Amino acid sequence: MKYLPGLFSNNRRWAAEQIATDNRYFERLRNIQRPEYLWIGCSDSRVPANTIIGLAPGEVFVHRNVSNIVLPGDVNCLSVIQYAVEVLQVAHIIVCGHYRCGGVRAAMGPALTGPIEGWLAPLRKLCLEHDAELDAIDTPLERWDRLCELNVAAQVHTLARLPVLRAAWGRGQALTVHGWIYDLSDGLLRDLDVCAECPPALG
Ligand code: CO
Repeated sequence: MKYLPGLFSNNRRWAAEQIATDNRYFERLRNIQRPEYLWIGCSDSRVPANTIIGLAPGEVFVHRNVSNIVLPGDVNCLSVIQYAVEVLQVAHIIVCGHYRCGGVRAAMGPALTGPIEGWLAPLRKLCLEHDAELDAIDTPLERWDRLCELNVAAQVHTLARLPVLRAAWGRGQALTVHGWIYDLSDGLLRDLDVCAECPPALG
């Protein structure tokens, strides 16, 4: 093994452990993919979806990007959502942000260079839309955390208006969109109570 031998040895150990507890583990996994959940989270290495919700491979379909943003023009994210809703027929879409998100902080600061600036544009807009509420918060850390929450709520709002979701609800498919936030300091998730389980009124 020329490159990254440690990762390959981790992998061999992990595969052997799965087989040791269930010798048909990979055979079963290969033949089914029926996750109940789509997770849309931040790429941050400290927020691994399966680990923090205690789910095994096969149990959660995952899309991650910087600051868990859902853009109606992002074919990558939209394709994941379409596949999850129409083919896998997930029952729940979880948008999970996290406090102290670096992307969210960057969107509160000076302009950056390169593609990240374009990516964070919706967050800068969100910041402006909520400037009165954010300005009223005393400390920069609390302002940052609040924008992390507002970002999750905004993504739930966007998701609930996507044609793929409207069509699913129109067919009577049971589908709920949840907005959660993860706290890096204690490892706990919190439901932000911004869920959507039916198409919002137009407008
Ligand atoms: Co983040």
